[in-house]
Amino acid sequence: MYTDFFGLSEKPFNVTPDPRFLYLTPAHREALASLVYGISERMGIVCLIGELGTGKTTLLYKLMEDLNEDTRAAYIFNSKISFKELLKSIFSQLGLPSERKSASTLLEELKTHLTKEMLYGKTVTLIIDEAQNLTPSLLEHIRLMSNMETPRQKLLQILLVGQPELGEKLRNRDLRQFRQRITSLRFICPLGEEDTREYIVHRLKIAGAHSANIFSSNAVGRIFQYSRGVPRLINTVCDNAMLIGYGTGKKTIEEAVIDEAIADLEIPPVMAKQ
Ligand SMILES: Nc1ncnc2c1ncn2[C@@H]1O[C@H](COP(=O)(O)OP(=O)(O)O)[C@@H](O)[C@H]1O
Ligand SMILES: [Mg+2]
Repeated sequence: MYTDFFGLSEKPFNVTPDPRFLYLTPAHREALASLVYGISERMGIVCLIGELGTGKTTLLYKLMEDLNEDTRAAYIFNSKISFKELLKSIFSQLGLPSERKSASTLLEELKTHLTKEMLYGKTVTLIIDEAQNLTPSLLEHIRLMSNMETPRQKLLQILLVGQPELGEKLRNRDLRQFRQRITSLRFICPLGEEDTREYIVHRLKIAGAHSANIFSSNAVGRIFQYSRGVPRLINTVCDNAMLIGYGTGKKTIEEAVIDEAIADLEIPPVMAKQ
């Protein structure tokens, strides 16, 4: 294992959404703050949009970890579902029984549950990841769910998090009613070159590195060029490069090792038929 070789206590570049490794650019910080604010101020529907691999799910894990005990969250990561399946997932996440009930019964019971929770000072939040997959019909159901309210307060807070196609979907004329319900819309982007450098050092430090210079400056430049600052791609190439460094006994990763790691990740074109 390369961790010992580089003096690390764990692997620094896993592609799991582990919030311990979270690196916050100003945009990530603002996005997280607006999600927290959306929940605490009961703002209704709040949206976060970002390219694939830019840290949306990791931010959500961080958010859920930080929620106080008065906030319950139902986290839905499979958004290719029907309305009834959505309700059943919400019920299961909130620890409520949903067997053999119709969608309309579930909706009624959810409203009763939310009203009760509010009386006890609790906030319930529905978090939908990969929200770009939601069908227009499910978005309409979600809009109606966000209508559940008392004269003073929304009963359900809704966070929609997805890739840029979510933005495109919401621009559709047919969804203008939905769009009007969104009270905050944030974007996160891939990292710039300086952030890429700091991101790499940050993850290495969390993994126990004593040196900030495991990757040479040119190596970082090459990683940035290849990944265009997308953290998921940075992780894959860095992990691969460290494995190569370990295999060839190199404690400092130079640009040539990154080239090799990138070449290893390339999928060869389908072989031409003879
Ligand atoms: N800002 C960040 N800080 C730390 N790690 C990140 C960040 N953004 C992405 N990653 C890492 O990149 C990978 C993909 O991130 P993920 O949150 O799944 O992206 P998304 O949900 O936007 O597709 C994960 O391993 C995650 O830890
Ligand atoms: Mg994700």
